[in-house]
Amino acid sequence: MEGSMSSSPNSRIALVTGGNKGIGLEVCKQLGSNGITVVLTARDQARGTSAIEELKCPGFSDVIFHQLDITDALSITRLANFLKNRFERLDILVNNAAIGGTERPTIFGSIPVNKKVQQFDGMDRTQRLEWLFKNCRETYQATKQCLETNYYGTKQVTEALLPLLQCSPDGRIVNVSSSVGLLWQFRNEELTQELNDIDHLTEKRLDELLDMFLKDFEAGRVQVRGWPTEFPAYKVAKAAMNAYSRILARRHPALCVNCADPGFTSTDMTLNTGVLTPEEGARNIVRVVLLPDGELTGAYFQEGQQASFL
Ligand SMILES: NC(=O)c1ccc[n+]([C@@H]2O[C@H](COP(=O)([O-])OP(=O)(O)OC[C@H]3O[C@@H](n4cnc5c(N)ncnc54)[C@H](OP(=O)(O)O)[C@@H]3O)[C@@H](O)[C@H]2O)c1
Repeated sequence: MEGSMSSSPNSRIALVTGGNKGIGLEVCKQLGSNGITVVLTARDQARGTSAIEELKCPGFSDVIFHQLDITDALSITRLANFLKNRFERLDILVNNAAIGGTERPTIFGSIPVNKKVQQFDGMDRTQRLEWLFKNCRETYQATKQCLETNYYGTKQVTEALLPLLQCSPDGRIVNVSSSVGLLWQFRNEELTQELNDIDHLTEKRLDELLDMFLKDFEAGRVQVRGWPTEFPAYKVAKAAMNAYSRILARRHPALCVNCADPGFTSTDMTLNTGVLTPEEGARNIVRVVLLPDGELTGAYFQEGQQASFL
């Protein structure tokens, strides 16, 4: 279940979800090279252990692997028990794992997507996003899976690890968000206001809104109801995660709970259309994880700079 390198007794303990590739793997590397003990998690044992091999190099701090599928309650419980027995606390949780919420283009077949990268040379960010949208298919199944992973999975992991974060003198949660989850994406004033009214918004209401979105998607009412269009599931799930982060920050003032957008990054999720490297994207997350002022909470950071949720 888990593999480890030796761990120094006084270092901070960070856990990264979806740490086997892309931005998550780079976040693990950067936290590790800052002297932090990293628990790299992945849903697939083989992919996780091979990622760990990549991190076994001189000058690197401690990295430990543990399996975690963020949609699997048993897997989450096993991880929480492991952390409790091994460290009795958690200092940093980086909720990075997510999916795109669409079906991948069939044109790629089994060819690794990184072989295709030259075709985006000369395209600007908007053209790349348009290409991506044209080549992905929105289905009900992918939409449902996206909400279950990106919102409910992230929430389940967070709730299970909260008691351990509360045992830390400086507990921090960074939820990896996206600029496409900002509220300007919604074209329904009531919905926007409701999602931004953190004094009154509840987790129960968030569940109701997500149910409503799913029903609207199934009935073809996404546009008329004013939900975001083009990758709506991904956008709605990130907006819900942002709102949940703000609720959590209010509920637990002793913790720092923030959201961070890495920027448009070249990874499997974007079929390598992104303009930043995974290392650059990860730097935007790690900057928020390591904020010197550990008191800032309930905030959103776009590529390392504090910005509005709107
Ligand atoms: N790339 C961008 O431009 C961009 C922009 C804004 C925000 N983000 C956010 O950045 C984060 C990382 O994305 P990325 O671009 O690095 O994507 P990626 O390369 O596709 O990596 C996603 C990671 O999430 C894991 N994952 C998916 N479902 C999981 C589950 N049920 N349980 C555990 N792990 C699961 C994947 O594991 P497998 O390998 O097993 O599939 C993989 O490790 C995501 O939150 C994404 O929304 C990305």
